[in-house]
Amino acid sequence: MKKQLASAFAVAALLVVGGVAIGGAKTQSSATPAANAAGTKKAEEQFKNIQALKGIPADQLIPAMQFISTSLGVECQFCHVEGAFEKDDKKPKQTARTMIEMMFAINKDNFEGHREVTCYSCHRGSPDPIAIPLVMAAEMKGTGEAKKPEETKNEEAGKEASGPPADQLLDKYLQAVGGAAAIEKITSRVMKGTITFGDRNVPIDIFSRDPDKRVSFTHTPDGDSVTAFDGHEGWLGVPGRAAREMHGPDIDGASMDADLHFAAHLREMFSEVHVQGTEKVGDHDAYLVIGQRDGKTPLRLYFDERSGLLVRLVRYGETPLGRMPTQIDYEDYRDAGGVKIPFRWTLARPGGRFTIQVSEVKENVPVDDAKFARPPAPPEAQKGPAK
Ligand code: HEC
Ligand code: HEC
Repeated sequence: MKKQLASAFAVAALLVVGGVAIGGAKTQSSATPAANAAGTKKAEEQFKNIQALKGIPADQLIPAMQFISTSLGVECQFCHVEGAFEKDDKKPKQTARTMIEMMFAINKDNFEGHREVTCYSCHRGSPDPIAIPLVMAAEMKGTGEAKKPEETKNEEAGKEASGPPADQLLDKYLQAVGGAAAIEKITSRVMKGTITFGDRNVPIDIFSRDPDKRVSFTHTPDGDSVTAFDGHEGWLGVPGRAAREMHGPDIDGASMDADLHFAAHLREMFSEVHVQGTEKVGDHDAYLVIGQRDGKTPLRLYFDERSGLLVRLVRYGETPLGRMPTQIDYEDYRDAGGVKIPFRWTLARPGGRFTIQVSEVKENVPVDDAKFARPPAPPEAQKGPAK
């Protein structure tokens, strides 16, 4: 997918919400985001050739495809004919369809319908799962114990570990960033900074406004990449292409990023919250707090043991086939208008990562509504998929 994009910066911008540019796979049929908001349509009603994923909401189809691509470590073209996603010409697409059915059957027959086995369980980033154990490639260091990648499973168990109660940690965080009263006074924020993607830096401007509106402009050499959320729906723009809407799972993340009062809202987001012990996050010793949310994926919050500040947040985008993680590390907390905010954060996903360093913050300055509005499609983008 990356090769298709005009520049690495475009990828950086799209990564903000984990999107990929689908080159006209569906953008033409849904020019207005309102038309398919809230996933009312089924996948088979919006797409032409859905068999294995019948019944899923239409706006979960692309996230499911992203999950497949990540799990196998391949691009869309591994399975799809460019510009004709409905065609079954490629063998891997046909295999993938039987694999989807197999995965559903494994979970139904062996795990009481819980989604324990996903494409990633076997594939681990490769189209060819390894069946034979690997020989030791190099002398092992230390205990020789491989670090297990983060699991999302145990958090459902909800068992309380040692340490202060979760509510106390959430409250300490709220106090550490200035307290509820100071946070409520913030109604808008304008930030200037730099986004680093690989070895390249470009300027970025971020505007936030109550309630839950946020837009960022990444100034690439080819033009601006835009990620915008207006409190209900969002869109992404890269130079020379029609803007595309954000999909279901990305909207959840975008609304969190847009919330200027996140620290004050945390407790009410959770139906259940518990401490799951301590972990190292960079140089920080941190408490890991798991927050369960009704009808949504859980959040993992890492609070510095001493300062109480949030140093890492992990959230998951739900797809019908499995969850896609997004990890954000917050650093360089500084005072800005009576509250403490991170001046640097690194967002990482399976497909890549970037860091934003803020150099200038203005609180409570007017931000025009027009900033969040979706621009009309440029003429060349309406013709069809980019080649
Ligand atoms: C490993 C194979 C595989 C990969 C990789 C893959 N897909 Fe798919 N895709 C499928 C299968 C299988 C279906 C049909 C699902 C069904 O029958 O319910 C499908 C269906 C689709 C459809 C619906 C087409 C229609 O009109 O019926 C779209 C759109 C789509 N994929 C987009 C993508 C995009 C975008 C990517 C890259 C992010 C991608 N796919 C990656 C296997 C794949
Ligand atoms: C239980 C383990 C398992 C799960 C779960 C699984 N696969 Fe596979 N998959 C395999 C194995 C093993 C092969 C290789 C078969 C072979 O070599 O003939 C394979 C092959 C494939 C291929 C063909 C690759 C190629 O090189 O042509 C595709 C495509 C594929 N899987 C997609 C998926 C998708 C999509 C999912 C999730 C919906 C999935 N698989 C889940 C075990 C699994």
